[in-house]
Amino acid sequence: MPIPKAELHLHIEGTLEPELAFALAHRNGVDLPYSSPEQLRAAYAFDDLQSFLDLYYQLMDVLRTEDDFTELAEAYLTRAAAAGVRHAEIFFDPQAHTARGVELDDVVRGLSRALSRAGERHGISTRLIMCFLRDLPQESALATFEAARPWFGRAISGVGLDSAEVGHPPAKFADVYALAREAGLHLVAHAGEEGGPEYVREALDVLGVERIDHGIRSMEDPELVKELVARRVPLTVCPFSNVRLRCVDTLADHPLPAMLEAGLVATVNSDDPAYFGGYVDENFAGVERALGLTEDQLRLLARNSFEASFLEDDEERRAA
Ligand code: HPA
Ligand code: ZN
Repeated sequence: MPIPKAELHLHIEGTLEPELAFALAHRNGVDLPYSSPEQLRAAYAFDDLQSFLDLYYQLMDVLRTEDDFTELAEAYLTRAAAAGVRHAEIFFDPQAHTARGVELDDVVRGLSRALSRAGERHGISTRLIMCFLRDLPQESALATFEAARPWFGRAISGVGLDSAEVGHPPAKFADVYALAREAGLHLVAHAGEEGGPEYVREALDVLGVERIDHGIRSMEDPELVKELVARRVPLTVCPFSNVRLRCVDTLADHPLPAMLEAGLVATVNSDDPAYFGGYVDENFAGVERALGLTEDQLRLLARNSFEASFLEDDEERRAA
């Protein structure tokens, strides 16, 4: 039995497996520039974050209808249940869909349908977090925020920040995060993946985020680490992703043990499992093997995942 855990850093679009991409392409009459799922999978060799994002946005074009989003999320939740996931806080990228002419309401309705059945079908509680694409202007994030308002506190629990990091510092989104805070939403942001520790600092100080997604480069700034530890700000670490996007040379070089040693509230997550070689159970097994993590450290990671979640205390106890 895999250890019960919460998954807190998971892009639903990044769970699109090549086989489902081909099935949806066929159903929706979309031409993919690959001849088979195998050929597509062979293209998953990335140099950096941007080379991954190029393929990730291209492949998303097969997602067109409300049902497509339900099917995508249902496939993830089925796999996540087998990975021991009891609670999932799931990112989606509204602007990547609305820019292609897919209605925001179709995306949210489609995802929510799968999420609302997840308790009964898979024993998984869920939250949905809407991410802003940081390489687009804040005006686009603000328009997306306003369009999504009817879903706040119902389908949508929080906002996040993803896509190309370097050159797009957190402070660029100060206004939309201030509005999200006023609306009572949870706040998270990707920072310190390819960008330096100063992006993590800015996400904390300017955006006021409750968690940092990735955050591995925080380790370059001992004062920042001290503060993250003292405030128990969780970091949602994604080991396979860091290796595949070459933020870390090999799994054996990953800073996760040093992060735990420093007292950081680190968690292990899969990010975009269809692209990075494994779901969250496989990330756990990978770090156990490559980094020699002990049973106690694996249990600490699982415990951290529930503490770092947006579950209320009573829900947390039930899920764990
Ligand atoms: N980093 C930034 N943006 C993303 C990622 C990631 O790992 N996955 C999907 N969008
Ligand atoms: Zn991510």
